[in-house]
Amino acid sequence: MAKRPTSYELWLQEEGIPVIDGYGITDVTALARRPWKRTGGSGAYIDLKGMEGFTGMYVCEIPSGGALQPENHLYEELIYILRGVGATEIWSPGEKTRKMHFEWQQGSLFAIPLNTRHRMINGSREPAIFLAVTSAPLMIDLLHNMPFVMGSDYKFADRFDGEHDYFTPTNARNEVGGFINWETNFIADARGALVDPSEAKGYGVRITSFDMGGSTLVGHIAEWPVGRYHKAHFHQGGAILLILRSEGYTLMWPPEAGIRPYQSGHADQVVRVDWREGSVFSPPSGWFHQHFNTGKEPARQLAFRYSGQSGKYLLGCWRAINKEGVRTGVREGGTMIEYEDEDPQIRVDFEASIRKVGVPMEMPRFEYAEL
Ligand SMILES: [Fe+2]
Repeated sequence: MAKRPTSYELWLQEEGIPVIDGYGITDVTALARRPWKRTGGSGAYIDLKGMEGFTGMYVCEIPSGGALQPENHLYEELIYILRGVGATEIWSPGEKTRKMHFEWQQGSLFAIPLNTRHRMINGSREPAIFLAVTSAPLMIDLLHNMPFVMGSDYKFADRFDGEHDYFTPTNARNEVGGFINWETNFIADARGALVDPSEAKGYGVRITSFDMGGSTLVGHIAEWPVGRYHKAHFHQGGAILLILRSEGYTLMWPPEAGIRPYQSGHADQVVRVDWREGSVFSPPSGWFHQHFNTGKEPARQLAFRYSGQSGKYLLGCWRAINKEGVRTGVREGGTMIEYEDEDPQIRVDFEASIRKVGVPMEMPRFEYAEL
C-alpha cells in the first residue's frame, strides 16, 4: 500500500529544499544545503524514521554578513548553533517597537517562544549554521492551514512579553518529576554546561533536563565517561539526539527483538548508528536504544523531546508507552534494561570496539541475571 503524505510532509515538498531521511545522519553540518527562498538562507529538512510526525528538524545556514527573513509560527522551535556567531531579534506580533536582541555563538541553545516574530542574523563573514527542532508536524497536521500557522498575530503573553532579562541565562535548577530541570531560556554553550548526576541511567551518567520559552518541546543534556555505556531504554518516538562531543555508537532494536536480542536470535534486527560530533539520530517508538562512548573524552549529547514527566508542560500522548518511566527497570514495569538484565553480547562487543582504538574499559563488573 502506497504511503500517503501528511500535511506536514506536503508542506516540506513545497519548501523547495532537500528532505533527508534515514535512521541518523553522521554530520549534520555536512548535509547539502540548498537555497531556501522563504527564509533567505540555505537549508535542508531532516525527517528521520524515529521522528514519526512528533518532531520536525532542519539545518539552516544564514548568509555571511546577512540575515534570514523574519517569521513567526504556531509551532514551537528550539535552536542550537552549530557554527558561527550572531544574534536574534525577537518581538511579539504587532510590537516591533519592543524588539529584543540577544547574541549567540557556537554551542548556544535557546527557544523561539510560540508565535514570536524573530530574525536570525549572522554576525560575521563566516557561515553561521544552526539546527532547529520543532513541533511543526503536530501543529501542521492538526491545523493544515499554512496561512494561519505562519500568519497569526496572536500574542502568547504567558510565554513571552518582552521581559528584559528573558534570554539571560539562569542557574535555576529544580527537581521536577524526579528529573533535575534547568529553568532558563538561554544556554550560552551546551557543550560546557554543568550536568547533574543521573546514576539510574548508567554508571557515571549525568543528565540535566531543560524547558525553555514555555514550550512543551523540551530536552536534556547528557554526559557520560570514557570507556562506559548507558543502560538501554525506550519511550515514544520523536526524540532527537545531537552529539556534542566524543564518538561512539548507539544500538537500537524494536520491541519484537526482546530484552536480549542476540541471545534470542534477533541480532539481524539490531540497528547500529555510529556517531561523532554533529551526528543526529532518532530512536523510533518502543525501540530500545543504548549509547556507547568509544572516544577518548566524555561523550555529550543534546536531546530534544517531549515529556510525560519532566518539564513544566507535559504532552499526554508521549505517555502512551512509557508505563512506569524511563528510569525504572523492565522487571518493575518500566522501560529501562538494567545492566544485569542486558544481553551479555552487548558488553563483549563494546569491549572489542574500545580495545581496537586503545580506550580503557571503565565499566564496573556486574552479574547477569536469569531472565
Ligand atoms: Fe531515549
